[in-house]
Formats: sequence, structure tokens, C-alpha cells
Amino acid sequence: MITVPSHIQKLKPYIAGKTIEEVVKTYNPKTISKLASNENRLGCSPKANEAAIQSMKMIMNYPDPACLNLRSELGKRFDIKPENVIAGSGSEGVMALITRTFFEDHHTALTASATFIGFIVLVNSRGVKLVQVPLTPEYKFDLNAIADAIDETTKVVYLANPNNPTGTFFTVTEFEAFMAKVPEHVLVIMDEAYFEFAGDIADYPDSMKYKMDNVITLRTFSKAYGLAGYRIGYGFAHEDIISTLLKVKLPFEPSTPAQAAGLASLDDVAFLNKTKDLVKNGRERFYRFFTEKGIEFVESASNSVMIVLENEQQAIRFTDEMLKKGVITRRLPAFGLPNCVRITVGLPHEMDHFEASFNEIVF
Ligand SMILES: Cc1ncc(COP(=O)(O)O)c(C=O)c1O
Repeated sequence: MITVPSHIQKLKPYIAGKTIEEVVKTYNPKTISKLASNENRLGCSPKANEAAIQSMKMIMNYPDPACLNLRSELGKRFDIKPENVIAGSGSEGVMALITRTFFEDHHTALTASATFIGFIVLVNSRGVKLVQVPLTPEYKFDLNAIADAIDETTKVVYLANPNNPTGTFFTVTEFEAFMAKVPEHVLVIMDEAYFEFAGDIADYPDSMKYKMDNVITLRTFSKAYGLAGYRIGYGFAHEDIISTLLKVKLPFEPSTPAQAAGLASLDDVAFLNKTKDLVKNGRERFYRFFTEKGIEFVESASNSVMIVLENEQQAIRFTDEMLKKGVITRRLPAFGLPNCVRITVGLPHEMDHFEASFNEIVF
């Protein structure tokens, strides 16, 4: 009999958004719009796929464990050394490394009540205590309350900016006031998975500009660059943090095609701009639509918009009815927001499909 540690027994399996195949099998709708997983509906840069295919010629060899080409290029673009950069299998891969590397059993992780579940699963699977501070009534990270909750056991504070699933962000002033209260022994993870959609907002704090010794900034190729399936993301931090993480990293992550695709996609500025435009226009279109329909929504700095329905039953009915029409959206009970639904910005025809389907639903 293989015994399982109690903190692992308590974990619940990850429930992803429905796949296209599942929806086709169950409802067989005419068309499908997958707006549930904050993916890039435009696809990805063809340059990324070409580079990945080229790299496969040497697929019999192990990947570069130092991921040097990508780290050097990111270093150049952000005016830092490759020693300040780490690449991982998605930004979640880097997050996993952080939880494996820095926690001791008596440590605590601190974050908000409704945020990226990946971090919560990682902390729970490491078996350390997790403290979650409620969001503000505006669905924002409550940085004052999080700062107040820091104590001598706190090892890591996780902040997603913009946050998933709410799409909200905290400002330069809020971030600076928060960091002034964070002791040096606390590592702050600034998860900026949606940075490219928020970076142009005037009071959005780009954590890379501060170069603080106890902050690691995480970014990803999964969202704006559309490479979610490759699993490639990265982190920026003080070189002592990076060199420690590199000791723990699985040597051959990320894969060769993932490294090549990430590197090549950095050059396709036109694709990135097209994505940013799609998301900006799509968010505005959602705001106009939900305002017209009298549906409460939360303004977003990411590639999705969260709507707030009257109660959980309404959210269940809404997502089920949309699914029957082929529109996949995401309910949020796992985030502690049972009356809310997150909808990813889609291509114009997917937005048409969403609106037409919505209009057919009786609330
Ligand atoms: C806030 C946040 N961080 C990290 C991730 C994971 O991204 P990656 O694909 O780089 O692991 C996601 C994905 O949804 C996310 O929403």
C-alpha cells in the first residue's frame, strides 16, 4: 500500500475549461467559440512555428539546459544580464520551481482569495500553509490587507497583475506603497502573465522597472504570443535568486521547440500588435454589450472580462445555455466566485457568436 501525504490527499484534480471535442460530443453545435481559457484566438506568429519546425531537425538531442539564446535575447530586450533571466515550461513552470526551491515546512505563502489557481495548487502540493486575503469589493488585490498579513513565517507573496480571473490591476502608487512595507526576507512573485495587455496603461506598474532584490517577475509566451501549447515562460530576478532556481530546475526544460518558438516570436512585433488591438477592441466591445444588457462586469486589463451575475444558479444556467450554442465560457466557483463568469476576448466572428447566443438566452 502506497501511502499518500495528507496535503496531497487534500488536493482536488484540476478542472480545465471544456475542450472543443467535449462540446462537439455533448451538444454538436453548428460552430464553436472557445472563450474559456484566456488563450490567444489569433493563433501565434508563423515565425514561431517555423522556428520550432526547424529546431526539430535536431530533436534527437537534448535541449540546451541553460536556454541561453532565449535568456540572452530577453536580457538584451530588458537591459539585464542573462544571469537575471530564467526560462521554464510556461510561467507556471517557473512558479513550480520557486515553490520547490524556497519553502521550508514552517513557511507560509500569502496571496488573494481569488487568483490564479496554479499558484494555489503548487503551494498546497508543497504542503506549506497558504493564507488568502479577500479581494476588495472592486475585485482588486487588497495590498494593504496583504501587507498587514505578512509575518515572520511569510516566505512568498504572490501578486498577479493583472489578476486572473478578475482582470483587475493595482497601480504604481499601490505597488510602491506595498513594497515599502514588505520585509527583505519575503520573496514577492509579480505574475505578469497578461503584461502585454496592460503595459500601456499609464498607472500600471511594470515591475521590471524597479529591479528589486526580493521580487521575481514572471511573464509568459502563452497569452499575447499565443504559444500556450508549447509551454514556454520566463522570470526576471536578482542573479542570486536565478542561480538558486537553476540548481533546482529540471535540466532539459523547456523543450527545444518551445525555446525556438519563444525566441522567434519575439521578432514578430506585427503579430503582437495585432493581438493587442484585438484584445483592446474586444474588451471595449464587451463593455458596450454588457452595459446595454444591464449586466454587471469588471473592467479588465487582461484578455478576458468577468461578468457578475445574481447568483450561482444563474451563472450555471448561463454557462450551460451558452455551451449548448457552442460558446465555451468559464464559471469561477474554483476561484471562490460562484456567481461570476470569465469570458476571453475572441475574434470578431466569435464575439458575434457570443452576442447572438447571449441574446437568445432568457435570464
Ligand atoms: C495569472 C496567470 N499566471 C500564469 C498563468 C500560466 O501561464 P503559463 O502558460 O505561462 O504557465 C496563467 C494562465 O492562465 C495565468 O492566468
